[in-house]
Amino acid sequence: MLRSRVIGCGGYLPENTISNADLAKKIDTTDEWIIERSGIHQRHIAADGELTSDLAAAAARSALSDASIPSSEIDLLVLATSTPDNTFPATATKVQKMINMGSGLAFDVQAVCAGFICALSVADNFLQTGQAKTAMVIGSETYSRILDWNDRSTCVLFGDGAGAVLLRAQNNSNLSEDVGILSTCLHSDGDYYDALYVDGGVSTTQTSGYLRMQGKEVFRHAVEKLSTVAEEALCDAGLSIDQVDWLVPHQANRRIMDATARKLGLSDEKLVITVDKHANTSSASIPLALSVATSDGRIQAGDLVVLEAIGGGLVWGAGVVRW
Ligand code: UT7
Repeated sequence: MLRSRVIGCGGYLPENTISNADLAKKIDTTDEWIIERSGIHQRHIAADGELTSDLAAAAARSALSDASIPSSEIDLLVLATSTPDNTFPATATKVQKMINMGSGLAFDVQAVCAGFICALSVADNFLQTGQAKTAMVIGSETYSRILDWNDRSTCVLFGDGAGAVLLRAQNNSNLSEDVGILSTCLHSDGDYYDALYVDGGVSTTQTSGYLRMQGKEVFRHAVEKLSTVAEEALCDAGLSIDQVDWLVPHQANRRIMDATARKLGLSDEKLVITVDKHANTSSASIPLALSVATSDGRIQAGDLVVLEAIGGGLVWGAGVVRW
């Protein structure tokens, strides 16, 4: 059976950072409130003219360097983003050109904060069915462009960034242990379309609009849905929570991550946290966290890693990966 094995990870964060104290000079908030409610200390913000495609291409190059392979070996590029450069074409096709991928297929996936898990699952299906051999899966966002910087309940929570994971189809029949993506599990519920949305769009206002969120409503769903879907993905892989080495959740809120880990019965040491430095980078948060935890040596070959995310839609999902 073909499995999608992770052969490289990369990330990119814009140079410019904004601290909570910087924000408190402009809006009615405090460093204490933001840290206590979300765990965020700072966020990175793209420079003028720095686009989602620029962030994505930088993360992709970093993943290629980590895997030590040339871009010409990629035959599938799936980019998760809800802040594309243009309405169309897919930002992925721009990135395809920027990294000199050449031939192959590139397209975008739009599932907001759950975008990376959805993109990973799509790429995994391509690789498992033999439709592609080497896939670049990217999450890249410039949320600073869709934030209402006068709305303190949302603008303090998000940041810009990109992360990328390179997958390669591998036949595991001669290995003693199954490695790669072992399962992915995805759900959505359009009843909550308005819980987290952007109040603009091509077909509605012909403007790009601003992010609006019923924070408490999203929070209420997050812990329950994330723990359930993680258990579901583990069950699909024939594994149990006590076998998990690392939980790499979407980095929206420290309280959600801690509560989910507690509900799953996982200790704090198994949780990868980057929300303090990156804030919520939507679809980029998981691949960025993976890039941090692989480059600092925490995630090692053979480790069992659970990924999980929830966001606008609502869409939520989880993936189980043997590194
Ligand atoms: O990535 C997609 C998934 N998104 C999420 O997972 C986000 C889920 N939601 C959350 O993380 C939390 O709901 C928030 C961090 C957004 C908010 O935390 P909360 O504990 O739910 O706070 P709240 O919205 O109930 O607000 C409490 C108080 C309010 O004041 P009153 O009405 O009690 O007087 C807000 O006006 O905090 C006030 N407030 C602020 N105060 C200082 C809201 N934003 C701020 C702020 N600074 N930035």
